[in-house]
Amino acid sequence: MGILELFRLDGKVAVITGAGRGIGAACARAYAEAGASVVIGARTREQIDSVAAGIRAAGGRALALPTDVMREEQLEALVDAAIREFGRLDIVVNNAGGTAPGPALKTSTQDFVNSFRFNVGTAFALSRIAAPRMVETAGGGAIVNISSVAGEHPAAGFATYGTAKGALSLLTRELAQEFAPKIRVNAIAVGSTRTEALSTVLSNPSIEKKMVELTPMGRLGEVEDIAACALYLASPAASYLTGDIIGVNGGLTTLNLPMPRAFG
Ligand SMILES: NC(=O)c1ccc[n+]([C@@H]2O[C@H](COP(=O)([O-])OP(=O)(O)OC[C@H]3O[C@@H](n4cnc5c(N)ncnc54)[C@H](OP(=O)(O)O)[C@@H]3O)[C@@H](O)[C@H]2O)c1
Repeated sequence: MGILELFRLDGKVAVITGAGRGIGAACARAYAEAGASVVIGARTREQIDSVAAGIRAAGGRALALPTDVMREEQLEALVDAAIREFGRLDIVVNNAGGTAPGPALKTSTQDFVNSFRFNVGTAFALSRIAAPRMVETAGGGAIVNISSVAGEHPAAGFATYGTAKGALSLLTRELAQEFAPKIRVNAIAVGSTRTEALSTVLSNPSIEKKMVELTPMGRLGEVEDIAACALYLASPAASYLTGDIIGVNGGLTTLNLPMPRAFG
């Protein structure tokens, strides 16, 4: 088999959360182009329908299912739908997540807990629902968690989001141990990537300029930068890789969005 064949996903079935736009949608398009059937879950019907329609128009196979990852019964339904429609489940991308940075002293404990649940609890829930079904229907597979550079490097303003993504990165390493050798579990520590999630920050050109200056590669990430790594992690090319966190972040060794400290 040629080396490029190892990057193909022909015959495989992938579930991707938060795939109505941004990084999740790019992963869905990449997986479909590589030959997988993709199941796209997010809350906004028009967006998931539009991603699925684009994939079908390009000759791929896609199913869109409105899904709120905070509702465990909807995660069960997502996995059921993948297997019902396409007969198996090989790949899960836990992508839905995100929390705006903000001062710890102005964040309620409830908001902290909610962010933890959104960014890591939902990945735990979908992984535990999907893993037995992946083994049963496909003999195993791969889980890809979309974590953040904020989970690797501490910074003022990131106590809530950074703690949650740090936990997602550790969950990745924990489940990799528990699910080996059947299911590989890896994560991407994503750096600043041009999506709607960054739109408030990027609407201020001076903040964007500062972020770019602080990024060794001299630009922000594009969603395809992340999708390319997510494709590798899900594909047979990464069959000996598990429990790893790959930084796709333009070389950041610290965060590039300076926020004020609490006490000046
Ligand atoms: N962009 C960055 O710079 C960056 C950096 C590091 C990490 N990340 C991570 O990358 C992931 C994707 O972010 P993004 O930048 O692509 O954001 P985005 O463009 O805002 O897209 C987020 C997607 O998640 C969906 N979503 C939100 N809440 C959901 C819920 N409760 N259930 C199901 N789907 C939900 C959204 O659709 P609906 O609202 O319709 O549900 C949308 O499809 C997140 O985990 C984020 O933390 C992003």
